[in-house]
Amino acid sequence: MKKFLCIVAAAAALCACKAKPQAFSVIPMPNEVSLQEGVFPVKGAEVSVDLSLDSLSRLAVGRFVQALETATGVKTRSGEGGFRFLLNPNLLEEQYAIQIGKDGVLVEASALNGFVYACETLKQMLPAAVYGKVKAPREAWVLPYASIVDQPRFGYRGMHMDPSRHFWTIDQTKRYLDIMTVYKLNRLHWHLTDDQGWRFPSAKYPLLTEVGAWRDGTCIRKDWDSSDGIRYGGFYTADELREVVAYAAERGITVVPEIDIPGHMLAALAAYPELGCTGGPYKVWQRWGVSKDILCAGNEKVFTFLDDILGELTDIFPSEYIHVGGDECFTGDAEPKRSDPWDVCPKCAARMRSLGIPRGPKAKHYLQNYVTARVQQMLEARGRKIIGWDEILQGKLSPGATVMSWRGVAGGIEAAEKGFDAIMTPNSHMYFDYYQGDERDKEPFGIGGRVPLEKVYSYEPFDGITPDAQEHILGVQANLWTEYIATQEHLEYMLLPRLCALSEVQWCDAGRKDPARFDASLDHSFAILDAMGVNYSLDCRGLVGLDRIPARDSAEMAAYMESKEWSW
Ligand code: ACM
Ligand code: ZN
Repeated sequence: MKKFLCIVAAAAALCACKAKPQAFSVIPMPNEVSLQEGVFPVKGAEVSVDLSLDSLSRLAVGRFVQALETATGVKTRSGEGGFRFLLNPNLLEEQYAIQIGKDGVLVEASALNGFVYACETLKQMLPAAVYGKVKAPREAWVLPYASIVDQPRFGYRGMHMDPSRHFWTIDQTKRYLDIMTVYKLNRLHWHLTDDQGWRFPSAKYPLLTEVGAWRDGTCIRKDWDSSDGIRYGGFYTADELREVVAYAAERGITVVPEIDIPGHMLAALAAYPELGCTGGPYKVWQRWGVSKDILCAGNEKVFTFLDDILGELTDIFPSEYIHVGGDECFTGDAEPKRSDPWDVCPKCAARMRSLGIPRGPKAKHYLQNYVTARVQQMLEARGRKIIGWDEILQGKLSPGATVMSWRGVAGGIEAAEKGFDAIMTPNSHMYFDYYQGDERDKEPFGIGGRVPLEKVYSYEPFDGITPDAQEHILGVQANLWTEYIATQEHLEYMLLPRLCALSEVQWCDAGRKDPARFDASLDHSFAILDAMGVNYSLDCRGLVGLDRIPARDSAEMAAYMESKEWSW
């Protein structure tokens, strides 16, 4: 019997030696990799885990082992001869090291994020079936001998999600997090409130979800006076939010919630009209765009409301950063207008007078600064920091705020040069609601603009920023607003493969990005997404050699589009 086992083992080793490893197509490309001759067979390999790993790191390793067992169809065993996961306190929090040789696979990290990223790198080095739910025993289950030492360029690597315009369930949100995990992102910016729907539950203000979470219809495409007449909405319970926070945390992702203040508040005003300048009545908006009705800056009740809501929010979300919005508070520029409530409201006028704000085009900016500063105090009192859209820079921003640059790169550059931290999310390169292909009529109807894959990939976050100010660039994020996106399939179509390009902008050291190598790696990412059952756009163009990436031909694409009944 023993002899038979030895022969089987020898035959398996022989097969493994002949098996060709998956070409090295890891996205984002690790920052230091050296590949060597030889392969290590992983089917049924032994696994040992350092007892000093914390529970979340063990869970991450457990998910990796489970994926391997499912895909290979063979159970791993405990032992020192295969994968060894070791705690190495000398590594940085998001750093990891992998050594693959004839003695097995040594994985070292100092904390959860390092282990999560090491496991994702190993998975991407294996056949894509390791991301699936079915057995694929005939694949080449080997890893090439290699040495990898890797850590990200930026500490903030974000992706934004907008459940306010169209509602995404907890399961859909987890799936979004799963995709982010594959590409080593570490922040989910969750836009929980807007004119078209309030999704955050409040025990103190129950009408926010009873009233503010529902709209009586949705406009059809860009015909803003139309309505499909279908009541639409939803909200999360506190338990559901906690579930998402925990799910993300297990994957090294922090959820940064956003309550958009003082604009984009119509859903809240519909529930509590006394918080607006005119007193309403207001309705949850059925159309897209920017509502002129915003929170009254002269009414103390508004600040009590905000303090209460931010208290409830920080009870659920442990994130160091809380996003407080701040975008698009006025219609057009800040010139006084009868259509802007802040220009005609007696309470707002009294507040401006008491603050000594002079009349003129900057008056509303200073009033917004006052609101932002009070919200910042509320959050700092709870040990948190604020992030706001780049409009918060207008006028005079208080120290300690972080600016999210969305109207191009200018806001981020100005913020960093003035000594504020900034996150770059320019609509020129990082708005994933914009079209990606060059033939709009072949794509699902969208908001407009165009951000093709190669534009995302080409983005350099330090461009235009002096060396001294670069330390203020915390990272990069892409935004995916979902006014015109109502289905999971469309959401993923807009997300991918642009998220792959985003991940290299966020992760790879300057000079490490390489369009040709990235282009060649995309096929493997497509196979991974196929195994996960995730949709993606094939209407991206190869960064070099346009015909390398399979593009759906027009007839096939047209039939596909027709079959989907894109109906928003
Ligand atoms: C934004 O796109 N209004 C931040
Ligand atoms: Zn007012």
